[in-house]
Amino acid sequence: MDKKSTPILAEIIKRRRTRKPAQFSKTPPSLDLVTELIEIARHAPNHHRTEPARFYLLNREKIQQLGKLFGETLVGDGKDPALVEKGNRKTREWGEAPGIILVTCLTDESSDLALKNPAVIEEDYATCSCICQNLLLLFESENIASKWSTGAVWKHPEFNDRIGIQDPENERMVGILFYGYSEQQVPTRRLSSLSNHLKTY
Ligand SMILES: Cc1cc2nc3c(=O)[nH]c(=O)nc-3n(C[C@H](O)[C@H](O)[C@H](O)COP(=O)(O)O)c2cc1C
Repeated sequence: MDKKSTPILAEIIKRRRTRKPAQFSKTPPSLDLVTELIEIARHAPNHHRTEPARFYLLNREKIQQLGKLFGETLVGDGKDPALVEKGNRKTREWGEAPGIILVTCLTDESSDLALKNPAVIEEDYATCSCICQNLLLLFESENIASKWSTGAVWKHPEFNDRIGIQDPENERMVGILFYGYSEQQVPTRRLSSLSNHLKTY
């Protein structure tokens, strides 16, 4: 193990916290930098080398559309004033986010590979989850704040068309990753004792 890099990685893993997109600075990190981080993040373990992750790096227009779709998803039939209020708030919060990446997982369940190895469906999802965490850690290493959300915007009937999901039949959402510069300070998270979760032989 590289003694020099180990403490740096450990520090970044512990320092990363979910931060509120509503408090992100309006100026987004450069697209070149974010694209470079996505390229690095793809280097995750991947059984069968299926490369299942698909990335949608949204521009301002798409971010606003996503916010509108999420708001409408929450509002539903509009009969519950609390949901209307929440929907309007989320439309504003999401629509004003400086940066959003959607990460989906593409697995063709009717492919020969999946029919022969049904576990590939979960394994592909596991790879995409690793990639999302890689991305969050890379953001942290660049002092970029982030939040992983699974707010169910993809349930909106217009989601696939409006966002331009390439293979809606076979892609499922893994993470809506918000990112941006932020001054918000969040203390490191305290976990319950490892002894409750670890059995050492
Ligand atoms: C798969 C996944 C889905 C998440 N979805 C949401 C979400 O929909 N809304 C939300 O507010 N936070 C969401 N989060 C963020 C978690 O709430 C957050 O990670 C958790 O509170 C722990 O805080 P930390 O990330 O600062 O350690 C999600 C996190 C993960 C890993």
